[in-house]
Amino acid sequence: MPSLRRATPADAARLAELGARTFIETFGADNRPEDMAMYVGRTYGEAQQRRELSDPDHVALLVEEGEVLIAFAQLHRDGDAIEIARFYVDRPWHGRGIAQRLMDAVLELARDERARRVWLAVWERNPRAIAFYTKCGFRDAGTQPFLLGVDLQTDRVMEVELLSD
Ligand SMILES: CC(C)(COP(=O)(O)OP(=O)(O)OC[C@H]1O[C@@H](n2cnc3c(N)ncnc32)[C@H](O)[C@@H]1OP(=O)(O)O)[C@@H](O)C(=O)NCCC(=O)NCCS
Repeated sequence: MPSLRRATPADAARLAELGARTFIETFGADNRPEDMAMYVGRTYGEAQQRRELSDPDHVALLVEEGEVLIAFAQLHRDGDAIEIARFYVDRPWHGRGIAQRLMDAVLELARDERARRVWLAVWERNPRAIAFYTKCGFRDAGTQPFLLGVDLQTDRVMEVELLSD
């Protein structure tokens, strides 16, 4: 039974490895290798991950099966909202309820933090993720640009409201 916990800076290397691998597995086939390399190098380097994990406005949740990291969510405090900056489940675990469990933990943490809403940006060409977020209650809230290397792409912004008062 996989377990869930908050990451610490000591998890930087494992997070960098799974982050880079899942990013390439998800988007590699639809993008230029040089754009992928530029983005992955900047985002998923171990030092960059350690910096983010040391940032008080950043929280990462990890799902592990024994010693093996199988999923993660990286969250940023953004005013009265929480942004899900990254949300990845390793491929053998897709469709097995891990993503739902991780999202439940993200929404619980956001409620504990008294966030008014949770939002994310997802590539417009990522239908499985869009279907998953819609299933979790997220609704369309516009679009925003995303720069992959030198390729300017369009992300869909999705959000869920938590507090009405
Ligand atoms: C996005 C992700 C976290 C979702 O987790 P998951 O375990 O795959 O999610 P689920 O299987 O519970 O839900 C996905 C839904 O999309 C549906 N789906 C699968 N492929 C699809 C496709 N090509 N188009 C549309 N819907 C699709 C599934 O049927 C399922 O819906 P259902 O439960 O109603 O049948 C996971 O697929 C993942 O990590 N993907 C790679 C990384 C990624 O894209 N992260 C998001 C970046 S913003």
